[in-house]
Order: sequence, then C-alpha cells, then structure tokens
Amino acid sequence: MGSDWYVLGMGRFSNSSICVAGPNELSVNIPEAIKPIYGQMFRAPFYQGAPQDAAALVTTLDRNEHARRLVAWSKAFSSEMVQTYRESAMARTNQLIDVLKREGKGGKRVSLSHWIALWAMDVMGDMAFSGGFETLAAGQDSEGWMEVLSMGVLFVGILGQVPWMRDVIALLPQPGPIVTFQQFAGQKVKETKATMTGMSKDILGIIQDESSGGPPLSSKEAAADASFMVVAGSDTVAQALMALSRYIVGNKDIQTRLREELSQLSDDGFGDVDATTLAHLPYLDACVQEALRMIPPVPAGPPRYTGDRGYEVLGKYIPPHTTVATPIYTLHRDPANFARPNEFIPERWLPDSTVLPHNKEAFMPFSYGIGICIGKQVALQNMKLFTAALLHAFKLDFADAFDLAKYDASYKEHNLWLHASLDVTLVPSN
Ligand code: HEM
Repeated sequence: MGSDWYVLGMGRFSNSSICVAGPNELSVNIPEAIKPIYGQMFRAPFYQGAPQDAAALVTTLDRNEHARRLVAWSKAFSSEMVQTYRESAMARTNQLIDVLKREGKGGKRVSLSHWIALWAMDVMGDMAFSGGFETLAAGQDSEGWMEVLSMGVLFVGILGQVPWMRDVIALLPQPGPIVTFQQFAGQKVKETKATMTGMSKDILGIIQDESSGGPPLSSKEAAADASFMVVAGSDTVAQALMALSRYIVGNKDIQTRLREELSQLSDDGFGDVDATTLAHLPYLDACVQEALRMIPPVPAGPPRYTGDRGYEVLGKYIPPHTTVATPIYTLHRDPANFARPNEFIPERWLPDSTVLPHNKEAFMPFSYGIGICIGKQVALQNMKLFTAALLHAFKLDFADAFDLAKYDASYKEHNLWLHASLDVTLVPSN
C-alpha cells in the first residue's frame, strides 16, 4: 500500500489518506473510496458487540436478512408515514416551545441541550411506538433511558472491537438500566402486537405486520429493533440540533439571515408548516448541512467487512476478513474537501458558492450505500421544524458567563458525542 493508507489500531492520523487501525482494520480517508466501500461491502463483526438477545436491522450481519427486513422498514418510511411523523414532531415541538417559555421566563438560564435531548427522545418514542417516554412532560429523563442508550453505545464501541466477548459478557449480571430498557422494549412489542388493527401508525407496528412484506419477526427480534431504532433516531438528531443551535446562537448574522428567510412563513401557517415549504428554505437547509458537516452525530466511519472474499477499492485489493471504514469526521474536516473546514460557513452549501473546495462526495453524515440511514428524510425534516420553531418563538443568546471555548473543548467522541450543557437565554419574539 502507498503512503496514503494507514493502520487504524495504531491510533495515528495524519494528512495521508489510509490508516491501518489494526492487523485487519483499515481507515480510508479518500472521498472516492466511499462508493466502492459502502456500495459493495456489508457490516463488520463490530455490530455483534452490541448487547442484544437477537439481531436488529442495524446489527444483523446477514446481508440477505437485512434486505428482507428492509422491505417492511421502507413501508415505515413511506411518504404517508413521514407526513404522520411530521405531525407528531410538530406537536412535540409546540410542547417544547411552551416548556422553554416557562423555563426561560425572565431571562433565566436554560440548558438548551437538556431540552433538545428530551424533545428528541419523545419524538422518537412517538415514531417508534406511538409514545411512551414523556420526558418533556416530566422535565427529565426520569427512567434513565438516555443513560441506558449512551451505555449501550459505549458497549458497542468497546465490545465491537472484541465481538467474541459478547457471549461472555452476557453471562454476567446486566446493569439494571439496560435490563429495564429491554423490558420496556419487550412490553412495547407486546402492546403493539395486541393493538394491531388495520394500518399501524408507528415503526414497530409496521415492521411486525407481515402484510408489510418483511419476514416474520420473533418477539426478541422486534424488541431488538425497538431498542436500536431509539438509539439510531434520538441522540443522532439531538446532537445534530445541539451543534446547529450552538452555531446559530453564536452568530447573530446567521440568526438574522435565518429569521429573514423564515419570515416568509406566516404566523398562522407556521404551526403547520408543510414539508414542501420546509424543503424550499435554502439557507435553513444550508445551516442544517453545515451543522452535520461540522459535528456529524456518527463521527466514526460505520465499519464494513470484506468477509470471505477480497474487494477491490480504487485499484487496490483489500484482502478477506478486513474491516474497512471511511472516517466521517475526518473527511468533513479535511481542507482538501472543504475550505476553512473548522469554520461554520452555511454559504458553502448555496448554489454558486465561492467557498471552495466543496467536495460533496466527502460528505456522508448518514453513511452511504447498503445500510444508509433510513431515517435521513425524517431527521432533516425534524431538524428544520425544530429550528424554524425555535427561531420563530425566541431571540437566543448564550447565558451569562457561558464559556464557549470551554464548551467546544468539552466535546468527547464516544461513538456518539458527550459534552457540557449548552446554556442559553431565550427572549420571546412577541
Ligand atoms: C441527524 C440524524 C441522523 C444521523 C446523522 C444518522 C446517521 C446514521 C448512520 C451513519 C447510519 C449508518 C449506521 C451504520 O451502518 O452503522 C444510520 C443508520 C440507520 N439510521 Fe440513522 N441517523 C439519523 C437519524 C435517524 C432517525 C431519525 C432514524 C429513525 C428511526 C434513524 C434510523 C436509522 C436506521 C434504522 C438505520 C439502519 C439502516 C439499515 O441498516 O438499513 N436514523 N443512521
């Protein structure tokens, strides 16, 4: 291999493009490699590190099984269902705005990140199984769901490196919150099955309904899907919105330009802003893309596997049993792909932008190819809904003595992100 290829496990990164991460792991920081890797290969044994009684869509290593299950999942993301999710996300957003008005009254300091996390959790609960978390109403994550999810993601991150350990770990007593969450997911599976009449209005109902075209799911498989869909769709959207909010609050010009664009939505129309309108707000769209570029919620490249055969990628042969990934965060912050990569510049996404280079091929927050995020459109829609509603309702500023440099430095990559609280003040717009 040339100097462009690196070994992952050695933990070294440089401007060169391929990194050997371990004896059989490869990180390829070349945008042109995304298509051949993610278009041909399927998930690596890494996903077996997840604590699970059965495989979920996102953890199965059987490509045919994944394809079969995807048929029903695609029904759960039909345009009709996306419209249903938009309506429930809008209702949750209105609930959040009311909470923020109450919490931020009189210029009180508000942890925007805390409330975003609760909002995302409730939105996902509605989509996944028609409700169940109600963390916004409680004002906190009383049941510790978020702790469970971050623990789960941490488990995957560590055990994914040694997937064979999973069966040993399974013999140990499981941490209480994980057991509670598994029971919760199992309960949701039973409830959804018991109430299934006609067309279901949530993901769990649709993927369990055999008329959706997927294979019959055992209760354990359905519970695994229920748990992983919450992992996949809550913290990701929450982190993307925390990133976006941080840059919007920190830049008055961006806030003003967004407000100008949003002013075309009438007050009356706003409460039910439709998907077409949202899709035609180019500056809002540019801000969303830029937040996903700066702080991609899944920063590491999703690992893929060559399996029993080798694959050719950009004229190089990658041998069997090799794990391969393209590092999302590194690609997004590489000056060869994006000019001034550490600056939040939404304008780079607008047509006729002069902020060059701007290599869209290097942008993969939702992954690519087989196993690409099925919730992408919903995630983008919800991010826009949330941002439009927040800016419509409030003028935002950082809270007194909020230390932005310290906040930025607090970010830790944990497979997902961990960081300090984003504290703001909110002045109602009217
Ligand atoms: C900004 C928000 C989001 C980001 C950045 C994101 C990112 C990703 C990425 C990178 C993958 C590939 C994972 C892998 O192969 O290891 C993925 C897969 C997936 N995502 Fe998302 N996601 C987001 C929101 C959502 C939402 C809202 C849902 C809704 C349920 C969702 C559901 C899924 C599912 C089910 C998969 C597995 C798809 C498959 O195996 O075919 N995601 N996502």
